[in-house]
Amino acid sequence: MDKKVKKLYKGLNGSIKIPADKSISHRAIMFSSLAKGKSTIKNFSKGQDPNSTLKIFKQLGVEFNFIDEQTLTVVSPGKFNSTDTPLDCGNSGTTMRLVSGILAGIEIPTVLIGDESLSKRPMKRIIEPLSLMGANIQSTDGHAPLIIQKAPLHSINYASKLASAQVKSCILLAGLNTDGTTTVTEPSISRNHTELMLKYMGADINTNGKTVSITKSTLEPKTIEICGDISSAAYFIVAALIVPGSDVILQNVGLNPTRTGILEVCRAMGADIEILNQTIKAGEPVGDIRIKYSSLKACNISGETIPKLIDELPVIAVLATQAQGETRITDAKDLRNKESDRITVTVNALKKLGANIEELDDGFVIQGKTQLRGGVSLETFHDHRIAMSLFVAGLICPQEILIEGFEWAGISFPEFEELFNSLM
Ligand code: S3P
Repeated sequence: MDKKVKKLYKGLNGSIKIPADKSISHRAIMFSSLAKGKSTIKNFSKGQDPNSTLKIFKQLGVEFNFIDEQTLTVVSPGKFNSTDTPLDCGNSGTTMRLVSGILAGIEIPTVLIGDESLSKRPMKRIIEPLSLMGANIQSTDGHAPLIIQKAPLHSINYASKLASAQVKSCILLAGLNTDGTTTVTEPSISRNHTELMLKYMGADINTNGKTVSITKSTLEPKTIEICGDISSAAYFIVAALIVPGSDVILQNVGLNPTRTGILEVCRAMGADIEILNQTIKAGEPVGDIRIKYSSLKACNISGETIPKLIDELPVIAVLATQAQGETRITDAKDLRNKESDRITVTVNALKKLGANIEELDDGFVIQGKTQLRGGVSLETFHDHRIAMSLFVAGLICPQEILIEGFEWAGISFPEFEELFNSLM
């Protein structure tokens, strides 16, 4: 689906509820499927990725009953059926990497497949630690399909080279059903939704700085209320900051400190941002965010901040084109391994729009403030975050832009356009 985006001549105004967090939605399905008995999930995501996870656990014999569009009960027998049909992870890296850990840990033989984009993404990062635990996993040169055969696992102490919540969670989930204590240490702290939700469901899991340890545990069924996704909120945060006259309130946004890098960066750039109504839901901090159009200055983003805003970097690049001075983003090489090579794709798209942006091996450098031009067609490369970032850029281009493959936004955020329209 092609999408035309026109410049906005008046600010975004109003208050919207941000839809459910994708990362937490995946985990809610996975962990309630592991917990024998009946769990309830409230405010489940309508995105295609969490739905890929749900379909997999249905195939494995878990019962899901929707009470309304976003509330469901999960009835788990506490064990899974084996299936000869491959488990289809669609576009979702989180599904493939976390499900591999779960199924290897409980010795369910399986084949995991994905779409064209997911089949190009690196899986050695999970094959290596799972193999060290004793798992038998075959791949095609480190890529899907992943063939997991029955093998007993043992606990490990793993020092990961990557700050990746997917890698960390994969190992912890394998460790959840393995005798002994499994420990993962990361170079920087990545999102900790797995740790918080497993703890909430009764697992013996503990964090000490960059190290997380888990000991074999049985999960209890629970009610899990999912907060709004700060990665979805990011498009509205950036749009409100760069479209003159904007004043927006985003309700029910997850404010887990392992995810709020975008707020830190916006504040460093001089953004007018306020947090209101803070509370806790299923162990996660939540609040409302008020954002007003602001005059911005450049800043550097690197090191331990990167995992806290990894998914927001394409839209932060759009933001940086509107900040005075040089914004330098480094230490983000793993951005090349997302749904697309987000470094090259972002740089090429913003150059086409007239931005002054230079590609680095591990990030990009942007000189601002630049008047973006538009008047071009841009591709999304099967990448939801590229689709939505380009939409935001289009709101400040005097000439209309055309985004090819805009339907990819539905991977995480099917309500995206409707919510934008409600603020226009
Ligand atoms: C995710 C972790 C991140 C993020 C992805 C979702 C998760 O990936 O980019 O969109 O739910 O654990 P990495 O942990 O590989 O950086």
